[in-house]
Amino acid sequence: MDQYLVYGNPIKQSRSPFIHQSFAKNTKQALNYQSKFAEHDGFIDAVNEFIVQGGKGANVTAPFKEQALEISNELSERARLAGAVNTLSFKNGKIYGDNTDGEGLVQDLLRNDVHLESCRILLLGAGGAAKGVILPLLAQNPRSIVIANRTVSKADALTEQFHDNRLSACGFEECSEKTYDVIINATSASLSGKLPAISASVITDHTVCYDMVYGKKLTPFLAWASAQGAGKVIDGIGMLVGQAAVSFTIWRGVKPEVETVIAQLKLSLAQE
Ligand code: ATR
Repeated sequence: MDQYLVYGNPIKQSRSPFIHQSFAKNTKQALNYQSKFAEHDGFIDAVNEFIVQGGKGANVTAPFKEQALEISNELSERARLAGAVNTLSFKNGKIYGDNTDGEGLVQDLLRNDVHLESCRILLLGAGGAAKGVILPLLAQNPRSIVIANRTVSKADALTEQFHDNRLSACGFEECSEKTYDVIINATSASLSGKLPAISASVITDHTVCYDMVYGKKLTPFLAWASAQGAGKVIDGIGMLVGQAAVSFTIWRGVKPEVETVIAQLKLSLAQE
């Protein structure tokens, strides 16, 4: 049976095995997908060993996405621009690196009936998570993407890297002078129960607020956005399943249905 892994450190919390095993069952694909802990300096050896054992592909989560980019022999454009790889495919003696995070986000927005064409997007954060979604967001033809970050210099650097006049950078205070159609929280603030310090004035009753993080209850950002009267709030559970679905399609050539798996994950989160 074809073997796949997800590497991370930590990895126990990963829902990828559940997601991919569900996709495999639903699409009748014969494969095995497990999670694998790697030491910080042991990732590359672990991948090479898996290739020798006949592994077909792997997902990569924190903190190995940059190392995964380095070991790839060939990269997709979106992985190169993201500076990170979350999907490795092993074939013809080569390692192919791709990044499906941004496409997972876009697919989830579309699933929620959020179309980005001509939209004014506010992207909060300028770390790896933000960087990974910029190219797929631009591909949806938004009117503009403002990247706002606590440390403005990082948002500036990110904007310069993409050479696209729809992109601009600012600090949290400056970005509060306008309103936006879609606000995406790509900071890691929610992970520590915090809220990016943006003004409520950015939100209207049409604004869609998306948090890449998810949890049992609304993230601090989504709870805040909801209290400010945002039109719609969406957490990152669909992005998680969406990025997995794109990886699965790359490996298996079959597009899995995501709705059921998202519903199952939401149910299991609620029961935790
Ligand atoms: P990731 O891979 O999750 O993007 P990262 O590269 O470390 O992680 O980036 C974390 C992002 O969250 C950064 O944009 C960071 O802002 P700074 O560049 O100013 O550090 C942002 N972030 C983390 N905690 C935050 C908080 N409490 N408020 C606002 N932004 C925060």
